[in-house]
Amino acid sequence: MELLEKINNKKVKIGIIGLGYVGLPLGLEFAGKGFDVLGFDLDERKIEFLKEGKSYIKHISSEKIKKTVSDGKLRATLDFSKISEMDAIIICVPTPLNEHREPDMSYVEGTAKTIAKYLKKGQLIILESTTYPGTTEDILLPLFEKAEPAGNNGFKVGKDFYLAFSPEREDPNNPKYSTSTIPKVIGGVTQECLKVTKALYDQVIVETVTVSSPRVAEATKLLENIYRSVNIALVNELKMVFDRMDIDIWEVVRAASTKPFGYTPFYPGPGLGGHCIPIDPFYLTWKAREFEINTKFIELAGEINTYQPYYVVERSMEILNKFKKPLNGSKVLILGASYKKDIDDMRESPSLKLIEIFRERCAEVYYSDSYVPKLPKTRRYNYEMESVELTAETVSKYDLIVLSTDHSNFDYKMIAENAKLIIDTRNAFEKNKISSNKIYKA
Ligand SMILES: NC(=O)c1ccc[n+]([C@@H]2O[C@H](COP(=O)([O-])OP(=O)(O)OC[C@H]3O[C@@H](n4cnc5c(N)ncnc54)[C@H](O)[C@@H]3O)[C@@H](O)[C@H]2O)c1
Repeated sequence: MELLEKINNKKVKIGIIGLGYVGLPLGLEFAGKGFDVLGFDLDERKIEFLKEGKSYIKHISSEKIKKTVSDGKLRATLDFSKISEMDAIIICVPTPLNEHREPDMSYVEGTAKTIAKYLKKGQLIILESTTYPGTTEDILLPLFEKAEPAGNNGFKVGKDFYLAFSPEREDPNNPKYSTSTIPKVIGGVTQECLKVTKALYDQVIVETVTVSSPRVAEATKLLENIYRSVNIALVNELKMVFDRMDIDIWEVVRAASTKPFGYTPFYPGPGLGGHCIPIDPFYLTWKAREFEINTKFIELAGEINTYQPYYVVERSMEILNKFKKPLNGSKVLILGASYKKDIDDMRESPSLKLIEIFRERCAEVYYSDSYVPKLPKTRRYNYEMESVELTAETVSKYDLIVLSTDHSNFDYKMIAENAKLIIDTRNAFEKNKISSNKIYKA
């Protein structure tokens, strides 16, 4: 097969559609291994940044991009007609939920329609965006089979073009694992599709795991994220129960983690964040309805996790009350705005929800996060707030400090020494070996 030969000779031209947290590292990986990569995005700003050799993602260095771009291995364009020049096309566009918490497939469908316009014989298309089982075969396949360039006879999958699903397992800023060192699951529409997809990823990924169909690969990704959502909900529920019993959940998890089998630790927090865990499980909930099945675990986990920011605010009110202070009129400083430590990603961050609830209860709210100097406008929030600088003087001005994201660059000692009261949702102070009777957990 010509495509297989091109892959093995590193002559294959790879197009990546969607140059975000998933697409950009993947493109860099292929380019770094000597492949010609052309990135496509609708966001002009990203294309300009890449052309200038600059990064727009905090944990990806500009030097790396500059080098790859100047080697001529990574290019970026807004011109989607160049899709026809590619041998393999990997789709990494967003799959959010709409306002009714249903899958918003408009990005995937829009991209698939564009590809169908330029599809040419022998091309391989891989969907990486997280989605419900059936997407690749039910939405993408029919569009490509009757793609415009195919004429009346259509294109045959596994013969005229190849189609597969391979979920992304990116964990931004994880020092232990990156795109190339995380095993990759792949499911092809036909055996030929699987063969070429495996050959492509084998060039850059440490291990490829083949499954029998794209729907199995789609379901695998959902299982992984539902597993996390449910287990985080469980530990969040236990946090609330144990707290009433005056038992520290963090100590319990630490002790349970010494069991060498049958237990994997999950940690409580102020609520779910990021583009995956709060969203992906509901792709299955939506699809399961078609089969008259309610996904009770997913819904329950969603309910408990959604409640967590409210729990943190309730705990804050209780603690302030102990010191004869109402939340109304209190100055509250939230530490950490991004959803996860040491990154700048604000998507679905529980800190934004905390700000909303504290404000509704008439607190004066501020935040500090060196990774997020200004809160970005999101679909739901537009706070126009700027990060405050942390000094002994500023820290002492707030009635309450709520640690929401445990960034490594916070001066925990200085904060503990100068704060009036602290609510720690991540056990960050204890992890930094700081104890004080001003610190409460929530
Ligand atoms: N971020 C993660 O850690 C992660 C991990 C695993 C899976 N995923 C999944 O990967 C997919 C992409 O996520 P992401 O985090 O990279 O999103 P992102 O928002 O960071 O990037 C998506 C990019 O696609 C571009 N885009 C949107 N519509 C487009 C179109 N029609 N044509 C070309 N470009 C288009 C956007 O401008 C953006 O640059 C999602 O399905 C997500 O669930 C993400």
